[in-house]
Amino acid sequence: MPDTALAIAAALLALALLWLAWWLLIASEGVYLGQRVVVWLYDRFSGRYDDTKNFQPVYEQALLAQPLLDALAGHRAPMVLDVATGTARLPLALLGHPDFQGRIVAADLSRGMLEIAALKLAGQERRCLLLRCPAPGLPFEDESFDVVTCLEALEFMARPGGVLAELLRVLRPGGLLFISNRVNTRLMPGKTWNQQQLAGLLQQNGAESMRREPWQIDYERIFVRKRGTATPLGARPPAELLRCPVCPGVGLDQSEADIWRCCNCRQAIRASGGYLDHEAWCRAR
Ligand SMILES: C[S@@+](CC[C@H](N)C(=O)[O-])C[C@H]1O[C@@H](n2cnc3c(N)ncnc32)[C@H](O)[C@@H]1O
Repeated sequence: MPDTALAIAAALLALALLWLAWWLLIASEGVYLGQRVVVWLYDRFSGRYDDTKNFQPVYEQALLAQPLLDALAGHRAPMVLDVATGTARLPLALLGHPDFQGRIVAADLSRGMLEIAALKLAGQERRCLLLRCPAPGLPFEDESFDVVTCLEALEFMARPGGVLAELLRVLRPGGLLFISNRVNTRLMPGKTWNQQQLAGLLQQNGAESMRREPWQIDYERIFVRKRGTATPLGARPPAELLRCPVCPGVGLDQSEADIWRCCNCRQAIRASGGYLDHEAWCRAR
């Protein structure tokens, strides 16, 4: 092959590889490369997340907090778990709403996102606990929350179906699951569900009813009721619900400013960066 043809072929190959790298890392945000890559990208770009999204508090309260409170029909003090909380979008919308008197555990796996969330939630530590833990394998007993939420995140999970099952596991019977479903699948083929697939998965995992509403260009809002009934659990200090990674105990208490201890075995965990790193605690065992 003449040199020019070789050079053209090499250039085309390099361009194709560059395009593939751009698509895998930027366009599809790492979803085909596994959980570590997704979380690494969120760590790396956490400082730009809020600027990119440009969430407006007034719309967040009207389009997130208000519909959620409406769906709770008068229960103003629920215990809420927000999975993949990012920079605390949902906690901020709820805590800023005058009718919300509940408490929140806000979980994410990205340290960068949690550090920003902690700055934005300063002063609300009593009502909202920031927790670093992965979405599959949430460190809570079954039926621990009145409300479980997960917004703009399921499509980033390695096993979204497993995460959906986990969200319903920690929800009490009759509790409310509030999730987003990605409807613009252009950049993430195979990573999203159509309506029948989502309804089937929810039903398999204990959902009784599902209500879909248009929401954003890329997402619809889904409100799901879990089968059965149980007395509302109500707001509690969030750390009381956490499983200890060392013993079978449940519940932590705060023994000093940044030190938390298992109520059962007294093992300690230090909060740094404004969040409790349950994942690191599990790994250090
Ligand atoms: C698009 S952001 C959504 C954040 C927030 N819910 C919102 O609506 O702004 C996706 C979030 O999912 C988190 N995430 C991705 N995979 C995760 C996993 N396996 N466990 C926990 N969080 C995860 C990322 O760190 C990131 O903060």
